[in-house]
Amino acid sequence: MKVPKPEPRPDRVSWWRYLRLFRQDILSAQPARLYRAWMAEFRTPFFRSYMCNDPALVRRVLQERPDDFPKSGRVREGLEPLLGQSVFVTNGEQWKRQRRIIDPAFEGGRLRDTFPAMWAAGEAAVARMPEGVVEVEEVCSHAAADVIFRTLFSIPIEDRDATAVFHAFRAYQRTQPILNLAAFLPLPRWMPRGFRRGTRAAAAEIRRLITAITARRAEEIAAGIAPDDLATKIMVMADPVTGARFGTEEMVDQVAIFFLAGHETSASALGWALWLLAAHPDVQERVAAEAAGMMAEFSALSRLRLTRDVFREALRLFPPVPMMVRETTCPEEFRGRQVAPGAQVVLSSWHLGRHERIWSDPDGFDPDRWAREETKVQARDGWLPFSAGPRVCTGAGFAMAEGVLLLAMLCRAFRFEVVEGRVPVPVAHLTVRAKDGVWLRVVRRGGEI
Ligand code: HEM
Repeated sequence: MKVPKPEPRPDRVSWWRYLRLFRQDILSAQPARLYRAWMAEFRTPFFRSYMCNDPALVRRVLQERPDDFPKSGRVREGLEPLLGQSVFVTNGEQWKRQRRIIDPAFEGGRLRDTFPAMWAAGEAAVARMPEGVVEVEEVCSHAAADVIFRTLFSIPIEDRDATAVFHAFRAYQRTQPILNLAAFLPLPRWMPRGFRRGTRAAAAEIRRLITAITARRAEEIAAGIAPDDLATKIMVMADPVTGARFGTEEMVDQVAIFFLAGHETSASALGWALWLLAAHPDVQERVAAEAAGMMAEFSALSRLRLTRDVFREALRLFPPVPMMVRETTCPEEFRGRQVAPGAQVVLSSWHLGRHERIWSDPDGFDPDRWAREETKVQARDGWLPFSAGPRVCTGAGFAMAEGVLLLAMLCRAFRFEVVEGRVPVPVAHLTVRAKDGVWLRVVRRGGEI
């Protein structure tokens, strides 16, 4: 079965049409030639944007000189009401200090500590899974939110506060359904982009709820009774350079991004992975067989080789964060073109993942490609779902463990089948989602494996 791809727009359209397409979805607002181009320049009356697919350019921006390409302020504006000064939006010294405090909590050894909570969330997801024709994105969202709450604050999603945050995020997304990639919009910087009605209120409600949970944790830490989870690890961590810790307000900013970046993205990847497996039942049976003997221990993850390759392939075809935006701060030369300071640099994990000059069979689902030698170079140049360089996703290792584990646990308990006439259409909202959800028939497995 063919892997869905958004219908690209014709090569030349008016700004007005582009704006309308963009409002619907940034993926179908782009022309097909971007799957072959190394670079594309978008000229607007107020600024220029450069989409860079050339691996050497991507490396320059993300890995070689990241300080010269800070996160674009245009993106920050869109997320500010919710994320405040979170590590996702800050730049320079402030960002470096935040990463020094956060990164140790997500390092390999510490990741192992989160495994029991992830396993418990997996068991809960299996227990909650309805049978019959089911919209699985919603189920995945619930499961991923559960993982975040259990690993961060040692509370399951059924907890009253956790449920309230989960619902408040839903409301937020409804008011702000399009990822604010203002870098593409031909509007001057001074023109207010206008938050949709309710966005600020929804963001304020989320922050109020998270503040209460975080303040309670600060008291538990002070009293010496806090559980040793991710929140405690981050809150007690002193910056090795300055010795400073996060105050409650700054921790709230980080919790907001852990929740947003950590649950929306994982849910999107899981939903697509399940669809891909439903569309390729032979691979699904191999995944179920691989998962059959899995034990509740961290080392079990390393034996789930095919499941990991399926998840990697899902992230290549449907990267949850489809594009990242940076800004030039000094004159640059991109592929022989002079680029002025203040230009927007767009790195598209979506286009890189399906780039026709990087991958063989770019639009095909082939998890076995990950066992082939040639994929190493292709992945180095074209697999960017977690970004790269010092600003790489903090939760990349966490997300790979979570995604592979949940996929394995779900496939060993259920068989997923496509529903006729319900091929999901990818659209980029806050993350890459299916336009009308991912609908699958869910059948509980008997004792066949
Ligand atoms: C499949 C799941 C995930 C995907 C695809 C993903 C992807 C990404 C990407 C592409 C970025 C870079 C964005 C940019 O530079 O503009 C990022 C940043 C980030 N992610 Fe993830 N993420 C995932 C899961 C998680 C999880 C589980 C957490 C935390 C629990 C997390 C926390 C963060 C944070 C804090 C940042 C900001 C890092 C910085 O700017 O220094 N992510 N993520």
